[in-house]
Amino acid sequence: MADLQPVDTVLWMARGTWVAMTLRAACGLGVFDQLDQPRTAPDLAAALGSDPHATARLLVALTDLGLLERDGHGDGAYANSATGATLREDHPSGVRNLVLMQSWLPNVASWTRLEDAVRTGSSVFEAVNGMPSWEHLSRHPEAEALFNRAMARRAAGQIEAILAGVDLTGVRTVVDVGGGRGAMLAGILEAGPDLSGVVADRPEVAAEAEVAFAEAGLGARAHGVAADFFDSVPAGADLYVISNVLHDWDDAECVAILATVRAAMSEGARLVVVEKLLDAPRSFEDTRDLHFVDLHMLVMFGARERTKPEYDALLVAAGFPPGSVPDAETSWNVIETTR
Ligand SMILES: C[S@@+](CC[C@H](N)C(=O)[O-])C[C@H]1O[C@@H](n2cnc3c(N)ncnc32)[C@H](O)[C@@H]1O
Repeated sequence: MADLQPVDTVLWMARGTWVAMTLRAACGLGVFDQLDQPRTAPDLAAALGSDPHATARLLVALTDLGLLERDGHGDGAYANSATGATLREDHPSGVRNLVLMQSWLPNVASWTRLEDAVRTGSSVFEAVNGMPSWEHLSRHPEAEALFNRAMARRAAGQIEAILAGVDLTGVRTVVDVGGGRGAMLAGILEAGPDLSGVVADRPEVAAEAEVAFAEAGLGARAHGVAADFFDSVPAGADLYVISNVLHDWDDAECVAILATVRAAMSEGARLVVVEKLLDAPRSFEDTRDLHFVDLHMLVMFGARERTKPEYDALLVAAGFPPGSVPDAETSWNVIETTR
């Protein structure tokens, strides 16, 4: 009996893919969207148009995961738990987008080759899917939209880190390099009515940002600009931010991106790198999460998470002075430097 517990622990870890796919199925079916009010399994199946018996079996497993609660006294109806409610399509966390993106077959198929990625130290995404990840996203607009929404989900934490650590006095114009659909830039602009800015991203993403800014009422102050950050980004802004981009690239590519940004900067302009530093203080759970994101970067891009000295080495190689990290303890970290 004594050694059963470690085996059980491994067994549960091995079920991880099944757990993720159970979440994917429930999101895809719309289970959490329907269960903001209690419903019995047959009621729910009728609403979803799904098989009643299979639906009942799914609901039991979701309850075991703590995503649903069952009324034991009444008719046994199921309803979302607080955790399950986060997977509703309209939940502000947007975490459903992350569930769907990470359980998307091209990404999962790449993870089946983690062993090869560790042997070679290189990405396996292209070998598995026939083209690099960014090109693959460009060719799959639904996945692209999902990815951009999954990224935007983290904006609140990134904005918090910037507002806590960066003095925006004197800043009028901001360029967010690889800024996705613009959620972080929107948060920065909301901090000051005189601020304006652009997101410089791949053409389809810049177009999405343009729409998102207009919908947020920021159309006069914020725009999406198509750019390849290996080529050029808009010049002459007071502040350049580059958030969660460098972790997608290997060292040589990071230096090339940073050199493009530096070439666009005027004397006195500042650069803020937003990332999660491997050597910054964070909880065990956040650290574990970062270590798995690090493996994801390897699988997808042959890239990696880094420490502050490792980011400084990239900055210096691109011609910047080493950066400073403010004291504030935030889930995202900022490194600030100047041209
Ligand atoms: C991990 S996402 C980060 C998005 C956002 N900055 C954030 O923190 O959530 C990386 C971004 O880099 C953009 N990107 C990738 N290759 C690019 C390129 N060559 N030029 C410009 N942007 C690029 C992607 O479209 C994506 O929006």
